[in-house]
Amino acid sequence: MNKREITSVLIDYNSSAELENIYEELINNAKEAAKKAYAPYSKFKVGAAVLLDNGAIIKGNNQENAAYPSGLCAERVAIFYANAQYPERTIRAIAIAALTSSGFTEEPIPPCGSCLQVMLESEKKSNSSIQVLLYGQNKITSADSIKQFLPINFTNDMLM
Ligand code: THU
Repeated sequence: MNKREITSVLIDYNSSAELENIYEELINNAKEAAKKAYAPYSKFKVGAAVLLDNGAIIKGNNQENAAYPSGLCAERVAIFYANAQYPERTIRAIAIAALTSSGFTEEPIPPCGSCLQVMLESEKKSNSSIQVLLYGQNKITSADSIKQFLPINFTNDMLM
């Protein structure tokens, strides 16, 4: 038998002022997007902002539905919109923020597994990593690739 230990690298920042200006701007866009989420059932409003290689910032937020599974997470709303409008562009970074009745979450909220899988597809398609920025009031967590969250992952080359 052979035991394999897999590690991920995440970097925490105390404030967005420690980040490059563009990432600070991206986080502010995610926070703005969260305020406009349609989340009447969970009351958990999530905002995502995607940075493309042409400098465009695309915002998305969670869209819920009375038939619960018909809703969609903020990250996928933003990414699918970006892919639909700019199919030739590469996603460079994504910022995510979550808002509850008591304000923005104190701790950063990681993307769900389905959103990670969709982001992984973007990395694979463009052959470049996506910088992830997770906003929390207490800290901002960053990762240099979706693979930090999904180190063992299913991709299209396994279909061939
Ligand atoms: N949600 C997101 O928008 N992104 C995530 O990564 C996690 C969860 C949304 C889905 C649902 O509308 C609400 O948060 C509660 O799960």
